[in-house]
Amino acid sequence: MTTTRSLRDREEPITMLTAYDAPTAAIVDEAGIDVILVGDSMGNAVMGYDSTLPVTMANVRARTAAVTRTVTDALVVADMPFLSFGVDEADSIRNAGALLAEAGADAVKLECGPHTVELTRRLTELGIPVMAHLGLTPQRVNELGGYTKQGTDEEAAAEILDLAVEHEAAGAFALVLEHVPSAFAATVTDTLEIPTIGIGAGPDCDGQVLVITDVIGLSEWSPPFAEQFGDVAAEMRSAVERYREAVETGAFPVGERGSAADE
Ligand code: KIV
Repeated sequence: MTTTRSLRDREEPITMLTAYDAPTAAIVDEAGIDVILVGDSMGNAVMGYDSTLPVTMANVRARTAAVTRTVTDALVVADMPFLSFGVDEADSIRNAGALLAEAGADAVKLECGPHTVELTRRLTELGIPVMAHLGLTPQRVNELGGYTKQGTDEEAAAEILDLAVEHEAAGAFALVLEHVPSAFAATVTDTLEIPTIGIGAGPDCDGQVLVITDVIGLSEWSPPFAEQFGDVAAEMRSAVERYREAVETGAFPVGERGSAADE
């Protein structure tokens, strides 16, 4: 069973994938993935939005609960959606707490900035483990002007590195580094004691994370750093077409499996 502590001692690279529903989470867990992230990427991946901004606490709470009902081994991390944290400290704490107490998550993830250092400290003090997220933080898409690589100049890289160090000191148990230059991700990884988990951040992080729909081939669009390891969309298309044909030709239904045909 993966815990926030066991991640730190892991010799092999940490594996992390998103999941947003019970059957997918069960498959990911059985496959031995260390960490399941109920990411706000659900907005793009399965809810039909073109960003993560419309995703609500209710969405993340319901989908985290679905995931935790089936997972037995992986660490389940629930993503805190846009404006569910950082506006008011008490609300941020209540929202994070609800993801643990009501939805059964093991930890929360925050898209970080200078405003989340103190919150990370408070949550950690209260027993709510925090995974920090720096680099490209998609909830800031409007400020960033797109999903572009971050930390590409010295000043921006220094700012991210400082924030990484501050979040580690505040108690974060791991750091997601998204879409930053590989050499910079290697520097952050060398600097921190907590594990770094990269997405579009090269091979030198302590682990890797991807969005499940990109990995299984169910995304309409995927970022350039994602890799497809299967073609579930093709399988689904074929199953649905075979079902339609079977109904239209009368080949289905023919009775229940394992029982004699209807008289
Ligand atoms: O929401 C998400 O899935 C994420 C990962 C891409 C790290 O934040």
